[in-house]
Amino acid sequence: MQRCYFSEFKSSTLLHRARIATLFFISFVFSYVLFSSALDSCQIRFPEYLVSSSLSFDSLSVRAETTLETVLKEASMNDNTVILTTLNEAWANPDNSILDLFLASFRFGNQTSKLLNHLVIIALDQNAFASCKRVHTHCFALTTDGVDFSHEAYFMTPNYLKMMWQRIDFLRSVLEMGYNFLFTDADVMWFRDPFPHFYPDADFQIACDHYSGNSTDVETNIPNGGFSFVRSNVRSIEFYKYWYSSRVIYPDLHDQDVLNNIKYDSILTDINLKLRFLDTTYFGGFCEPSKDLNKVCTMHANCCVGLENKVHDLRIMLQDWNNFMALPNGMESQTWRDPKNCSLALRRHLDLSEDGMKVETIT
Ligand SMILES: *[C@@H]1O[C@H](CO)[C@@H](O)[C@H](O)[C@H]1NC(C)=O
Ligand SMILES: *[C@@H]1O[C@H](CO)[C@@H](O)[C@H](O)[C@H]1NC(C)=O
Ligand SMILES: *[C@@H]1O[C@H](CO)[C@@H](O)[C@H](O)[C@H]1NC(C)=O
Repeated sequence: MQRCYFSEFKSSTLLHRARIATLFFISFVFSYVLFSSALDSCQIRFPEYLVSSSLSFDSLSVRAETTLETVLKEASMNDNTVILTTLNEAWANPDNSILDLFLASFRFGNQTSKLLNHLVIIALDQNAFASCKRVHTHCFALTTDGVDFSHEAYFMTPNYLKMMWQRIDFLRSVLEMGYNFLFTDADVMWFRDPFPHFYPDADFQIACDHYSGNSTDVETNIPNGGFSFVRSNVRSIEFYKYWYSSRVIYPDLHDQDVLNNIKYDSILTDINLKLRFLDTTYFGGFCEPSKDLNKVCTMHANCCVGLENKVHDLRIMLQDWNNFMALPNGMESQTWRDPKNCSLALRRHLDLSEDGMKVETIT
C-alpha cells in the first residue's frame, strides 16, 4: 500500500525516504520478533504487561487524567491528602463483601465516619466500579485493557502480581499530581483516626506484619504494603519510580518482597527518603494484633489465605470491636478473638509450600 502510494508521485526523494522508512520498519519488526522468540525459547519470564498492558495503561491514564484529577480534588482534605483503596469484583461481591465490612468499620469506629468523605475507591473492573457507585461517592475506574482483575487474585499468581504492580505505578502518578495519600487495603478495618499517629517528618511510612519496636530499622521490621502513608515530594516520587522499575529485576516477587529487598539499596540513601515503620500497637493485623483496643487505629486481615476465611474472621473482629465500644468506660478489658479460620488456612498453606520454604508475607 505504502509503496504504491509513493511511486505514484515518482519523486526520487520521496522514494528514497520511503525506502529508508520501510527498511527501518522491517528491521524494527525483525528485531521485535527475534527478541520475543528469544524470550520464549529461553523461558525468560518477561511480564507481558511490560510489553502490552503498560502501553494501554499509559494511554488510558492520559485519557482518564481529568477524571482522576476531579475525583482526587473532590475527595481531598485541605492539605491535599486523600485516602485510597483498590477494589475488584471479588472483593465487592455483595454476598461476601470485603467492601461492606470495610465501609462498616468506618461507621463503627470512633469518629472515623467523617474520613469516608476523603476516601477514593479505585475500581479495577466494571463490576467493582458499579458496586462502588452504589455505596460510595468517590469512585474511580482504573482498567487495563487485556487484563482481567475481576476475580479473586490468589496470592502470588501472575494476575495477583500484575494487580500489585499496577497499584505501585498508579500511586506514583497520584504523587506526581501533588497528592499525599494514605493507601489502605479494603481488608483493613478502621477503628480510629490514624492521622494523629503518623510521623510528621517521614516521606513514606508503612504498616508491618511484624514490628520490631524500632521505627527506623529496615532490618528487623517486616513491612506490609496494605497500609501506607506517603507524602508527595521529589523523594517519594523517585522512590516509587525506583520501586516500580525493580519489578524487572525481581519478576517473581511480590511488590512487598521487592520492597524488602530494595529497602537496603544505596539509592534510598541517595534519594534521602525518610522511611518509617508503623507500630502494630496502632496499626495491627492478624499477623500481629494490636494488644490494646484503647489504642488501636486499624487492623489488617493479613496472615490470611482465602476470601471466605478472611470475611469470616473480619466479621468476628468487627463484633469484638462493637462489644468493646458497648462496654462502659473503665471496664474495657476486651481483647480480640483468635482469627481461627485464617490461621488454620494459613498453616495449611505454609505446610503445602513445603520443606521449610517459608512464605515470608501473606497479605
Ligand atoms: C472516642 O473519641 C473521643 C474523642 O476523641 C474520646 O473522648 C473517647 O474516649 C473515644 N472513645 C473510645 C472508646 O476510644
Ligand atoms: C533503630 O535502628 C536504627 C537503624 O538500624 C539504629 O541506627 C538505631 O540505633 C536503632 N535505635 C534503637 C533505639 O535501637
Ligand atoms: C470457619 O471454621 C469453622 C470451624 O472450623 C467452620 O465450621 C466454618 O465453616 C468456617 N467458615 C468458613 C467461612 O470457612
